[in-house]
Amino acid sequence: MFKGGIQATRDAAAALALMLKPGMVVSLVGELGAGKTTLVAALAAALHSDHPVSSPTFTVIHEVPTPTLMLCHIDAYRCSARDVLNLGLDDYQQDGFVLLVEWLEMFADAGPIPDITVTLTEDNNDPDVRTITITEHGDQA
Ligand SMILES: Nc1ncnc2c1ncn2[C@@H]1O[C@H](COP(=O)(O)OP(=O)(O)O)[C@@H](O)[C@H]1O
Ligand SMILES: [Mg+2]
Repeated sequence: MFKGGIQATRDAAAALALMLKPGMVVSLVGELGAGKTTLVAALAAALHSDHPVSSPTFTVIHEVPTPTLMLCHIDAYRCSARDVLNLGLDDYQQDGFVLLVEWLEMFADAGPIPDITVTLTEDNNDPDVRTITITEHGDQA
């Protein structure tokens, strides 16, 4: 568990970076403004990417190359289940991208099964503090 200001987000991203393998699916769970996109930016930085990370709210998918792993950042907030199915996420997975998905939990049936869930919660007292947990799910085959 990581708790604190932006450094806690950076620490969580660095820990997540060590867990990732090609084709993995990461579900990023948290309210609007919890810091999901900020965590993806911190992850890209931890992986030494100089690619800018911004919210894919309107474009839905952003590819984020890093020297070691290809990341695919998805914001499904405005998607229907059909949209999610039509994104071709399994193709990205087969191509070895790591999928980092905001709002995947809204699509239990349509979306890919997460290998890792990252949960971000805000603090009632300090607007800059987040509590971040990283859960790796067992083999679901
Ligand atoms: N510790 C922190 N970790 C992440 N973001 C933080 C933190 N403290 C403040 N913030 C701010 O909270 C906002 C999070 O926004 P964003 O990452 O877009 O959230 P989401 O993608 O979950 O909607 C940003 O404006 C960011 O600067
Ligand atoms: Mg976001």
